Amino acid sequence: MRKMRLDRLLARGGVSRREAAALVKAGRVTVNGVSAADPAMALDLDSDRVTLNGEAVRTDKHFHVMLNKPAGVLTATEDGRGQTVLDLLPRTWQSLGLGPVGRLDKDTTGLVILTTDGQLAHRLIAPKWEQGKRYLARVEGRATDEDARRMAQGIPLKDFTCKPAKMTVLEAGDAESLCEIIVTEGKYHQVKRMFGALGHPVTALHRASIAGVELDPSLPPGGWRELTAEERTHLYTITELEE
Ligand code: URA
Repeated sequence: MRKMRLDRLLARGGVSRREAAALVKAGRVTVNGVSAADPAMALDLDSDRVTLNGEAVRTDKHFHVMLNKPAGVLTATEDGRGQTVLDLLPRTWQSLGLGPVGRLDKDTTGLVILTTDGQLAHRLIAPKWEQGKRYLARVEGRATDEDARRMAQGIPLKDFTCKPAKMTVLEAGDAESLCEIIVTEGKYHQVKRMFGALGHPVTALHRASIAGVELDPSLPPGGWRELTAEERTHLYTITELEE
């Protein structure tokens, strides 16, 4: 049975514990159709139904969303210096405890998954679990099959050697090329450093998928949605975790 205190559940929606207690005392909260009296009451999240001001309060154990990060936004949950991916969500979603599954650079666009499940996030990022992250990279110069072969061998960088990555040249031109690359690790600036080491500085980088979950093409830059039940189940299955 999944248990949680009533005031804690209400606080996930953005109110403080004290405000949650006041809402309960004011009779604005019901549990299973009955006005709640005790903010500290233990809920069974699997079966109890809670309302606040007549509206259902979600009792999900975890929340997971995908977001199409625009350039210029930080993949952080808090930052005094600029807009973060969390700022792109409605206010009630900002207090749930969502954290990003891996970080994108400020100028990188595309898929960011945010989850409240830290263990899931860890297994999607940890190189040991070898979950592929697929990127589209626009690079300077003509990318070649030889570059792809070197990526597949593992590019040595100054501080470490990258794990083998699958790179495909999608468009090759003398001035610039478009490549797809799938990496299973995510060190700082890694994709940019890998192409840089081959003499192809990255001019634009976009993440298209994480562990088989594709960025929804209907999401505009800055748009977000919850993961579907199918996407959620897929991620829990491949990380061998219980949903
Ligand atoms: N690799 C990079 O260099 N930057 C990113 O944002 C993601 C992967």
